[in-house]
Amino acid sequence: MKWAVVLCALVALTECMHKETLEEQGLLDEFLKKHPYNPTAKFNSVFARASSETLTNDYDLSYFGVISIGTPPQSFKVIFDTGSSNLWVPSVYCKSQPCTNHKTFDPSKSFTFRSTSRTVAIQYGTGAMTGILGYDTVTIGSIVDKSQVFGLSETEPGSFLYYVAFDGILGLAYPSISSSGATPVFDNIMNQGLVSQDLFSFYLSRDSQAGSVVTFGGIDPSYYTGNINWIPVTSQTYWEITMDNITVSGNVVACSSGCRAIVDTGTSLYTVNCNNAKSMPEVTFNINGVPFTLPSTAYVFQRTSGCSSGFGQDYNDLWILGDVFIRIYYSIFDRGNNRVGLAQAA
Ligand SMILES: *[C@@H]1O[C@H](CO)[C@@H](O)[C@H](O)[C@H]1NC(C)=O
Repeated sequence: MKWAVVLCALVALTECMHKETLEEQGLLDEFLKKHPYNPTAKFNSVFARASSETLTNDYDLSYFGVISIGTPPQSFKVIFDTGSSNLWVPSVYCKSQPCTNHKTFDPSKSFTFRSTSRTVAIQYGTGAMTGILGYDTVTIGSIVDKSQVFGLSETEPGSFLYYVAFDGILGLAYPSISSSGATPVFDNIMNQGLVSQDLFSFYLSRDSQAGSVVTFGGIDPSYYTGNINWIPVTSQTYWEITMDNITVSGNVVACSSGCRAIVDTGTSLYTVNCNNAKSMPEVTFNINGVPFTLPSTAYVFQRTSGCSSGFGQDYNDLWILGDVFIRIYYSIFDRGNNRVGLAQAA
């Protein structure tokens, strides 16, 4: 079924978050108290019709930003996820556990809301959401996206969404993998001509909670150095590209005859053996004839619960270049030209 595939990129993230947050719940609560979430979205005047949205690094597990839906606005923390295509948030119709400790959208409190009878169902590795589709105004930074279709959750089975800091997900992949054929947010933004360039760019900060940013409609030169390497999108589903091979010290260790890879902001961590982690070398991803190297310090994280690595092979033979890769390489997702731009992050 399509949906088993569509959000597989989130499987690793959610499983990891579930485990990590369960074990570190006390720590995380304390941390968030000391670093209260600040939902500021700043407009970047460098660009005409571009808007930058501040992202919060949630314990290196995910990066989320704040959007608002409805009139007057109701705000939500969402993951800007290039590995899926639907926007959905919890709603007042939902009685599941994750809806008790997250913001819920109340359509009766928005005079711009339009209901539909269409349903939506999204399957994750450790859970799922089901709900109904509705239309309303979605505000992201300075972008006012009118008549945006989105999911209002009615059920959020399982417990993993209970433990995460974000309320919902804003998918930034292609419409072909959108559940119920719902028009993705960036497609609606492009259709309304709300951005001067049909692309968006991610800078993910490394250690601190602050400093990460997604820019809709522009490329911010202050976040990268050197040239941008452009790589064609090979399948307009996820942000899928072709990788030539993966090498360590010049020897091919995987993907010897080429393989598929996706650049996915919604995937953070995989579990690796801590003993192996200590001796892990730098790894080079050769893409479109250009080497992209990650030192082990970039991709191995020691935690109380064990060690995690930031890339891995998904069960659909897709290599996932997730958050740890994007922390090293400023990433531009160019819908206008169906290509991904990678440059050394500043
Ligand atoms: C890996 O791919 C690159 C092209 O990106 C190629 O130049 C190189 O020869 C390949 N490495 C090996 C060991 O095959």
